[in-house]
Amino acid sequence: MILKASQIHKSFGQLPILQGVDLAVEKGEIVSIVGASGAGKSTLLHIIGTLDRPDRGKLVINDVNIGELNQKKLSLFRNEHIGFVFQFHHLLPEFTALENVCIPAFISGKGKKQAEERGMELLDRLGVKHRAQHKPAEMSGGEQQRVSVARALINNPSLILADEPSGNLDSENAASLHQLFFELRESLNQTFIIVTHNEELANISDRTIHMRDGQIL
Ligand SMILES: Nc1ncnc2c1ncn2[C@@H]1O[C@H](COP(=O)(O)OP(=O)(O)OP(=O)(O)O)[C@@H](O)[C@H]1O
Ligand SMILES: [Mg+2]
Repeated sequence: MILKASQIHKSFGQLPILQGVDLAVEKGEIVSIVGASGAGKSTLLHIIGTLDRPDRGKLVINDVNIGELNQKKLSLFRNEHIGFVFQFHHLLPEFTALENVCIPAFISGKGKKQAEERGMELLDRLGVKHRAQHKPAEMSGGEQQRVSVARALINNPSLILADEPSGNLDSENAASLHQLFFELRESLNQTFIIVTHNEELANISDRTIHMRDGQIL
């Protein structure tokens, strides 16, 4: 088991958003989360990603009880174990593709040469090596998305969390990104939890979790 969330509760002000979510995910699983807008999918993903803390409940990732980590240890843990792919990829506009990809590696203390080698390897794998020296504004949406996937993978995180990763891609680029997730699971045994409105992706994932009103159905 790579992840176990038990009885996760989260409110924003008086408004209860997550109401006792239980979720267990095995290493190497590709799980999709679906549900209506406002169901609490992104809120859950943020908590699983340790970007936000639950009001109540327990979260264990890679045998580490996340609630027991202080802020500093939490940042280190996140940087090492978790990769994020967002719909709006948040690449930094003033940096090249390669620089963007390498930032998490620099944060974790890797040297420039080592980070760049791994960065180029990933860009190559993702079919955007020829864009390494370009800035985000000079790349297509699909290319930017691939660069952000490379960035999510640079530290070889065991858990990859994606929120609508193919939401702003055309169907061809979306299908190819989904294909890539499966390839990475095969080659690196990485685990994916993906919030998606894409039915094709939900259908091909190992398991689909349905959320409604802050609960898993
Ligand atoms: N920081 C916040 N402060 C107050 N309310 C919030 C906050 N974040 C989310 N919410 C509310 O919590 C509810 C769940 O939001 P969430 O973003 O988790 O939904 P979602 O399932 O990801 O929806 P979508 O499919 O539209 O992305 C929504 O009603 C939202 O308005
Ligand atoms: Mg959302």
